[in-house]
Amino acid sequence: MSRGREFPARTVEAEDVRLRRVDPHYTKTLVRLLAAHALAEKLTALGYERALETVTNGSLRPVIEKHLAEERHHAALVYRALRDIGVTQEEADRSMIPALKAPSFEAPLRFARSVAGELDLLMASLSLDMTGLLMVGVNYKDSSYAPHARAAERILDEEAEHELFAVGELASAVERFGPQAVAAALRQWLAAAANFFGPPGSGFGYDCKRFGLKARDNGELTELYLSMLERRLDKVGLTMPRLTPGYPHALA
Ligand SMILES: [Fe+2]
Ligand SMILES: [Fe+2]
Repeated sequence: MSRGREFPARTVEAEDVRLRRVDPHYTKTLVRLLAAHALAEKLTALGYERALETVTNGSLRPVIEKHLAEERHHAALVYRALRDIGVTQEEADRSMIPALKAPSFEAPLRFARSVAGELDLLMASLSLDMTGLLMVGVNYKDSSYAPHARAAERILDEEAEHELFAVGELASAVERFGPQAVAAALRQWLAAAANFFGPPGSGFGYDCKRFGLKARDNGELTELYLSMLERRLDKVGLTMPRLTPGYPHALA
């Protein structure tokens, strides 16, 4: 059997994991991936929670509240998938402590801890909702682990709306704050947003692909994100800041 066909989309259920019908390394890789996904959703929810306190533009309140509720729901879905294979939220979060220091968690941590106004909220949304949409839509929707694929399907529509919000906000921010202020905020966030996908060609990424838990390598998704973002920026007359090519990316 070829490697690609070993774990086709949606073929592994929680029971297969619980009854150890799959390779223990599959389970280990799955748990790590789900723990990272759950934590990213939880930190994004915390960011929206913080935005409720710090964003002074009252007209944004309903949309922030809506996104907050949806991000909490996304986190709950992924934590539930973990619980179904015997991993508690505490255990999952604890396993992620070393990963929190990695560049891939810089953007969600920054959103959760220090978003301080409308432009920051916009950048967080461009950095996390747009990236999240790609991860969920491209990588997890056809996961070999059926419960993750089903969770991704439920998350997808909402993330698509969050992304639309970010795109709409981008245009109105350029009008209200001016292109220079938006460009400056973008320079603050862009590298962290690109790094959110994680390092290209890692052993963990290879295992995720081999087990059918991810469709694409982190590097491919980063490229896809940057080209999408560049087109969005183009439409509002902004230029994409240059990034260094290697991971972790920095402003060039
Ligand atoms: Fe989400
Ligand atoms: Fe989102």
